[in-house]
Amino acid sequence: MDRTHENEPITVGLVVGSSRPGRRGPTVGKWAAETMAGHPAARAGGLTVELVDLAEQRLPMLDEPVPARFGDYRHDHTRRWSSVVSAYDAFVFVTPEYNSSVPAVLKNAIDYLDAEWRGKPAGVLSYGSRGGGQAAEHLRVILGEVGMAVVPGHVELRLFTDFQWPAGSATDPTAHARIAPAPERAAELAIMVTELVDAVRGAVPVPVR
Ligand SMILES: Cc1cc2nc3c(=O)[nH]c(=O)nc-3n(C[C@H](O)[C@H](O)[C@H](O)COP(=O)(O)O)c2cc1C
Repeated sequence: MDRTHENEPITVGLVVGSSRPGRRGPTVGKWAAETMAGHPAARAGGLTVELVDLAEQRLPMLDEPVPARFGDYRHDHTRRWSSVVSAYDAFVFVTPEYNSSVPAVLKNAIDYLDAEWRGKPAGVLSYGSRGGGQAAEHLRVILGEVGMAVVPGHVELRLFTDFQWPAGSATDPTAHARIAPAPERAAELAIMVTELVDAVRGAVPVPVR
């Protein structure tokens, strides 16, 4: 659907890019969704945000015989994932950093499709011990390859400063840390959302490959 008209609400898919048991992804995604719901565009009814949790999509490792660019999907799970992604005008990708890059589940979910991503604006929110900056850098390159228009605004959450840990547990990987981002993180996310809205409305040119 053409969302370039001011009165059409923009739908943003907030992709939760991890799937392991006990992950922090849904907590970070929920914080992002709630923060985005407070953006002026959302409060004015011009923006809706929905979580797209890759753990719920249950995609196998890529098993399509034909590369996604040809759009010749042979499996129902691919067609289902295609219709999920097609429903959104823009995306915020919430990615942790795994060994200096994105989780395999996120790369796999992106690799499944092509036209469904192409030309759509995307923002990156990373988290990790040091904010997940290397994962974010890799993700920007990957998203560029499927023709997405990655906005410059980004958010990095650091495990040791944007989460609150029970006393003495900061080095315990299983400890339950409460998400408590510094106020700047919400401001950074608001900038990203404004850029996404402007990009969908056509205020920012979409790069052509
Ligand atoms: C396999 C693995 C590799 C990781 N590698 C990094 C890393 O390279 N840099 C970093 O800052 N944090 C790293 N971490 C810490 C994660 O960013 C942190 O545990 C985060 O909560 C993982 O996201 P998740 O909880 O949604 O799975 C790693 C964690 C895992 C499980």
